[in-house]
Amino acid sequence: MIKLSHFIWAFCASFLLCSISASADGFDVIKKNKCESCHDFTGTLGVNKSGLWRKGPALYYAGSKYQDGWVEEWLQNPERIRPAGAFYLDHVQTGRKYNVIRKETLKDHIKLNAKDAKDVAILLADLTAKNSLIKAEHYDPTMKAGPLGEMMFNKIYGCLACHSIEPNYGGLSGPELYTAGQRLKPEYMLSIIRDPQAWNHKTWMPTRKINEEDMQKLVNYIISLSDNNTSTKPHALESTARNYRVYCMQCHGIAGSGSGVNSRDMAVPPRNHTDGKYLEARTDDELFQVIKYGGLSINKSALMPPWGGTMTDTEIRNMVKHVRKLCDCKYTGPKTK
Ligand code: HEC
Ligand code: HEC
Ligand code: HEC
Repeated sequence: MIKLSHFIWAFCASFLLCSISASADGFDVIKKNKCESCHDFTGTLGVNKSGLWRKGPALYYAGSKYQDGWVEEWLQNPERIRPAGAFYLDHVQTGRKYNVIRKETLKDHIKLNAKDAKDVAILLADLTAKNSLIKAEHYDPTMKAGPLGEMMFNKIYGCLACHSIEPNYGGLSGPELYTAGQRLKPEYMLSIIRDPQAWNHKTWMPTRKINEEDMQKLVNYIISLSDNNTSTKPHALESTARNYRVYCMQCHGIAGSGSGVNSRDMAVPPRNHTDGKYLEARTDDELFQVIKYGGLSINKSALMPPWGGTMTDTEIRNMVKHVRKLCDCKYTGPKTK
């Protein structure tokens, strides 16, 4: 029944996993599907095959990395995690404005049936080669970044450059992080942010000094992205034009020129969205902020309300583009006055 193939012996030698019983079926599935042609299960393949020019992410520390249950589920329904593949240079080419992903070079991942997925998951859960790194971390779920999360992730620590925080928004050379809360152990996230090389010493994720409190906040921010992702916001992704009609025209007016039905008695008039001269001195980030957090957040009138509870970040980003259309302008630098 248990086939002690060469492959199994390699496993046994490196991990003393020879109490095989439960994992034996998992070995068979891995062997049958040639999983080891793309993944390092033993930590012995060396930098080129396992780290840099790899065909798939290393799995020899899978038991230290993934949340319980995630592997089993993903193998039955493997949705892409790395937008540009396991190593981006294998999958990009020059484009008109910037380098683009060669979609046709990205293959769909092999899909397993429920039993095979379970058997493999049991086996992978035993591969805990880097558990000492996990044990060294202390995750604190109470240290939240709150509304500053995206600012830390984007502006302060530059993480957005390589990681997406929602589908189609953010960098593409690293794994997307809006599902990381379901996929990864918080301790693993802390550890790889602290010292990416400890997990893959040729990784193209840079090492940055971050204080302990901010590390916890970054991880809690990443986890909160998954919460957004699963909560079905009732008004997610309405069309931008409709959002503008429903939410903005009451003050900014049907034509967007600031003369909405509410504007008559307002102490501060709603901004004229067709005024290119004014709006070209505002950056897209400033517009995003005022729409999400309201006038007060940028020292303007509280009469401009915060819309963060009404629209998703994606909808707000689209709204910024909509305002840019109304003013027929883009940011050209600070006002000279
Ligand atoms: C042709 C190469 C190839 C083969 C064969 C292959 N994989 Fe993968 N695997 C990949 C790539 C590439 C990814 C990254 C997918 C992504 O980021 O969207 C991946 C991702 C994974 C992941 C998720 C890990 C993570 O952090 O993203 C698991 C688990 C996994 N593979 C297990 C397996 C198992 C088990 C088998 C055999 C049944 C297998 N793979 C066969 C290339 C392969
Ligand atoms: C220059 C690009 C780049 C930057 C900047 C960057 N990362 Fe990464 N990150 C990566 C890559 C590539 C990986 C995959 C590591 C590997 O498999 O070798 C990764 C992995 C991760 C992971 C684990 C994801 C997984 O599925 O294994 C987390 C969490 C993470 N990064 C968080 C951050 C945070 C937080 C920051 C900002 C402090 C950041 N990263 C900055 C490229 C980057
Ligand atoms: C209840 C009335 C009201 C509603 C509704 C409203 N706004 Fe405003 N908005 C204002 C007022 C008043 C100002 C001017 C604030 C000031 O200059 O101090 C303003 C200013 C702005 C500005 C300019 C900020 C700047 O940098 O000077 C933008 C952009 C904006 N609103 C977008 C929107 C969008 C998009 C919506 C719909 C989602 C919206 N507003 C809905 C009242 C409103």
